[in-house]
Amino acid sequence: MRYDVDFLVIGSGIAGLSFSLKVAKSGQVAIVTKKEAMETSTNYAQGGIASVSDKYDSFDLHLNDTLQSGDGLCKEDVVEMVVKGGPARIRELIAWGVSFTRNNTDSNGLDLVLEGGHCKKRIVHAGDFTGRVIEQALLDSARNNENIAFFENHIAVDLITYSTRMKRGVVTAAHEDVCCGAYVLETKTNEVHTFRAKTTVLATGGAGKVYFYTSNPDIATGDGIAMAYRAGTLVANLEFVQFHPTCLYNPEAKNFLISETVRGEGGILIDSQGRAFMEDYSPQKDLACRDIVARAIDTELKKSGDDSVFLDITHKDPDFIKEHFPNIYKRCLSLGIEITKDPIPVVPAAHYMCGGVLVDMDGKTDVERLYAIGETACTGLHGANRLASNSLLEAIVYADRTAKSAIENLKKENALFCQDLPAWDPMGTMDSDEAIVVSHNWDEIRRLMWNYVGIVRSNKRLLRARDRIDMIEKEIHQYYWDFKITPDLVELRNLAVVADLIIQSAILRKESRGLHYNIQYPQKDDRHWQKDTILRRPFVG
Ligand code: FAD
Ligand code: SIN
Repeated sequence: MRYDVDFLVIGSGIAGLSFSLKVAKSGQVAIVTKKEAMETSTNYAQGGIASVSDKYDSFDLHLNDTLQSGDGLCKEDVVEMVVKGGPARIRELIAWGVSFTRNNTDSNGLDLVLEGGHCKKRIVHAGDFTGRVIEQALLDSARNNENIAFFENHIAVDLITYSTRMKRGVVTAAHEDVCCGAYVLETKTNEVHTFRAKTTVLATGGAGKVYFYTSNPDIATGDGIAMAYRAGTLVANLEFVQFHPTCLYNPEAKNFLISETVRGEGGILIDSQGRAFMEDYSPQKDLACRDIVARAIDTELKKSGDDSVFLDITHKDPDFIKEHFPNIYKRCLSLGIEITKDPIPVVPAAHYMCGGVLVDMDGKTDVERLYAIGETACTGLHGANRLASNSLLEAIVYADRTAKSAIENLKKENALFCQDLPAWDPMGTMDSDEAIVVSHNWDEIRRLMWNYVGIVRSNKRLLRARDRIDMIEKEIHQYYWDFKITPDLVELRNLAVVADLIIQSAILRKESRGLHYNIQYPQKDDRHWQKDTILRRPFVG
């Protein structure tokens, strides 16, 4: 089947939905999303959105906190643009039906909380389930828009570029290129459709699933980064993987985050002996930036041999805890942890990808008519370490700018569809009888990344990881050509590409900065490394 649309949006999180709502007045939008539309990282966001909202705060203070956290790699003009764009976007979310927690004392009616690295309370939130409230409101608006069509359970396999020589959707792109849409696998029928589009937007989220322990939902397999890289775009700063310090440690809990706002409201990290250890690592103690806290926990766990540390908020009033953290309270209670009485066992886990598809201030990649927004993009806002709650902010500000640029482009070029796109060619592939190859490699990549390319890195482990991933990629490549594609295979292929790119980037950066820490180069080296790590797929002629 072939679909022709003005805007192909891949992903239904905050970035994809808010972009779609804006461009729908100018053309037909198809939102392709690989599971149910609600299944996004956005839906699980807890803490909230950082945005200057009261007289005690200022854009300069938010800008400084972001730069400080980014450890020398943020683009200052981008930070300024995003920080200043926050208040209008918050008002827009409210107009779209997002109901943030209110407080009538001092902040334009919005309740504000604190997170690590922020010098002021500036996190706008909806209880401790901010993401769910945002996702639901945006979805409701998008589903009611007659110019937006949803394609749920459709997974994009590869972008189609104009200069592409296509062979089963595997692209060999020249570097001055035009994006014409994407091949998309309908997961219920296993049919591959061609989506021909005048504008294509990657809003595919992050890549936490590349690590064995992650706060991310299953959709976060780095598909957008891998597709863009295969299509010949630039990708940047993939060594900067953010590990959230406090994910729940419990064998029955898959990926449950204990929000940083728990520390913002006074929660203290302690070891199994009850010792508050963060004062050994930073004057900001528990509210230091995430890279510092995650590394401190990693060091403590290696020293003690314990399985977890603990986050203790039991000194606060039980009613306050239940009122502020209803979601966390309920989830922990269901696992036998009464957080008003028991410290919460926590460990760091892969949480956020600071790098991604390199874009300009309008979300444009270096392939014509291809944009990237949200976690999948690298805008220059986060530098070497994202400041807490700046991700949802970046997504909405960039969705707004990108929508304006995409609408202009559409008018300017009176954009025509690319001609002569070949349909997907399955080329004599068979149904697989060896699904074990896929599940084994999934597992191996994730363990390999956790053990060799984690919070603390070394040259030896990185080189070992590179050798392993090379072999795994060869095996996946062979498998991909021999068998009919499945959603698991599509994701595995992407996971391997992203793992490879993280390893390559980490090997290139011969210093320690922000989230990248290599024991062979423990110092920051501004003279040589105050720059982005940029990769592009070598041209295959
Ligand atoms: P997502 O919301 O992840 O959406 C990605 C979409 O792309 C999904 O619909 C997915 O199905 C789709 N997709 C992916 N690949 C394909 C494909 N090949 N084909 C079709 N569809 C595809 N940030 C904050 O600022 N504040 C917070 O409080 C906060 N809390 C967080 C808590 C948790 C547990 C997690 C995991 C993250 C949190 N973050 C937070 C980070 C933030 O939620 C994400 O960075 C942000 O929601 C990403 O939005 P997005 O629209 O880019 O991607
Ligand atoms: C949290 O609530 O701790 C997550 C905030 C974020 O990832 O920005």
